[in-house]
Amino acid sequence: WELLAGSRPLAGKRVLVTAGGTMERLDPVRYITNDSSGKMGFAIAEAARDQGADVTLVCARTDGPPPAGLRLVKAESAEEMLEAVMVRLPETDAVVKAAAVADYRPAVRHESKMKKGASERLTLELVRNPDILQAIGEWRRQGSAAAVRGPFVVGFAAETNDVERNAVEKLSRKGCDLIVANDVSQEGAGFGTDTNAVQVYGAEGLVEALPLQSKRAVAERLWAIVRERAGWNGP
Ligand code: CTP
Ligand code: CA
Repeated sequence: WELLAGSRPLAGKRVLVTAGGTMERLDPVRYITNDSSGKMGFAIAEAARDQGADVTLVCARTDGPPPAGLRLVKAESAEEMLEAVMVRLPETDAVVKAAAVADYRPAVRHESKMKKGASERLTLELVRNPDILQAIGEWRRQGSAAAVRGPFVVGFAAETNDVERNAVEKLSRKGCDLIVANDVSQEGAGFGTDTNAVQVYGAEGLVEALPLQSKRAVAERLWAIVRERAGWNGP
């Protein structure tokens, strides 16, 4: 029994992972998105699944098909992803927000395909999307004393500069427990690759720097950190 528990250290835990880049539609055939491949989120979901967790993967646009053996929820836009995540929070033990959520969406979503018109120029107006990670933080803060504390929350931060300062600022602003910072300007790290190099930050600062390795190996180490900090490793 102990051997079994040792290989499935997330058994009994309900985990929600978001992956991919959101698609923000302008009309039925056009949209704004980003370079996220979904690979980091997939690796995190697969690692949790293999450690015995009950995994829900909320998936936006991704390059490849999502992994098997978990509950898949499609969410195209940031607004759809917000809804999909928030309704599941009460029954979730850990949330990992690996998705690249578009910060803005077109102000108007046209019902039919836009025509080009006579003008040589087109100005697209964008409006801010809801911040899902921040909404999760606020949901936890609003929980009454009698209610559960809510899930353990892990956010991501894609940065090209001042990684530590930006990551720690994001953690406190969004009220999450850990931030996984990606230096997307680094070779072999971030969007589209099978490898990643990240730094994991807590409220106190750097928790661990994970050198360049497979996204799956990064995911395994991340779950080990989550288990330890969430107090899931038992007495
Ligand atoms: N995120 C989110 N909802 C948004 C934007 C971001 O939930 N509307 C989440 C991402 O899933 C990620 C984290 O917030 O886990 C950080 O995303 P990032 O783009 O690095 O941070 P932003 O707060 O959007 O700041 P900026 O893009 O200006 O650096
Ligand atoms: Ca952003």
